[in-house]
Amino acid sequence: QKNRLGLTPQMGWNSWNHFGCKIDEATIQKIADAMVDTGLAKLGYEYINLDDCWAAYNRDSQGNLVANASTFPSGMRALADYMHKKGLKLGVYGDAGLRTCSKLMPGSLGYEDQDARTFAAWGIDYLKYDNCNNQNISPLTRYNRMSEALMNSGRDIFFSLCEWGVDEPATWAGSMANSWRTTEDIKNTWESMTDNIDKSNKWAPYAGPGGWNDPDMLEVGNGGMTTEEYRSHFSIWALVKAPLVLGCDISSMTPETKEILSNQKVIAVNQDKLGVQGLKVQQDEDLEVWAGRLSGDRVALVLWNSGPTEASITASWSNIGLSPSAVVDAHDLWTDEVTSSVQGNLKKTVASHACKMYVLTPK
Ligand code: DGJ
Repeated sequence: QKNRLGLTPQMGWNSWNHFGCKIDEATIQKIADAMVDTGLAKLGYEYINLDDCWAAYNRDSQGNLVANASTFPSGMRALADYMHKKGLKLGVYGDAGLRTCSKLMPGSLGYEDQDARTFAAWGIDYLKYDNCNNQNISPLTRYNRMSEALMNSGRDIFFSLCEWGVDEPATWAGSMANSWRTTEDIKNTWESMTDNIDKSNKWAPYAGPGGWNDPDMLEVGNGGMTTEEYRSHFSIWALVKAPLVLGCDISSMTPETKEILSNQKVIAVNQDKLGVQGLKVQQDEDLEVWAGRLSGDRVALVLWNSGPTEASITASWSNIGLSPSAVVDAHDLWTDEVTSSVQGNLKKTVASHACKMYVLTPK
């Protein structure tokens, strides 16, 4: 993308997975407060993003988008100020069609320049741009218009393209956007989560600094999966350089949720400056090995057990980009244990619906 944002995957929070359309100023401010007070902001989570339903049903008499006056009475500029004072950034949501998916607010089709100027004037830092009610106009046309409009708006605005992967956006969105959805909406289930991550796999060659594949936002903490499943969800999102956009109510998260979302070593894999998307490199039915190159000749590795029982998984060097003679230290990013001087392969026992995640550092 020409805006030079997103050199590493975006980190933040979005209202949709937990709150849906039930958002208001007080709730969003509470989330922002929690982002700072829990220490998450310091770890890199910076965007607080509104999803659908933040705007009034109609544009004003000048054709401008306006905040919904009953839920956001202070308006968007005040909300952006609130975020900026806390060292955070504010994102909004729009749609490359006539109305958004909820149909409760206008889309930006035909209003791209005007809306981008409005966002810039409010101090908005991020736009998630959805695909509903799109009149069957080519997505390349619709998304490029907003991309250009944001570029011309006079403000750096991160562009998150939400086309659900229907027209293979990985192949064309790189010049327009900082991330592009590769899948339909995530649901708060193990099946949906694993399905989304599998679908993002084949687009790995298109990801890199400035533009990322987006298998959708995190469900960690929303209650539909076990703690181990959420740990797997977070680990694999980090490995594949997916956006780390939190989707739970971080103002009331459990200690387990906080522990998962706060793992600095896992976050560091996601934010590694090389920006190489990890891939599924080995599969034996439910037992998978995912790996990706990191800076400093290191390798990030996830041993993944989608099966119903505990199993042993072996990652062999030839599959994960290490020479067979390489000797590495394997650092378990969840237990902090180090297995020293391993050569040829790494074999570990992994519980059902769990993963183990390592950084391998050559000696
Ligand atoms: C569809 C998107 O894929 C979701 O992430 C969410 O933004 C909803 N639309 C909102 O209506």
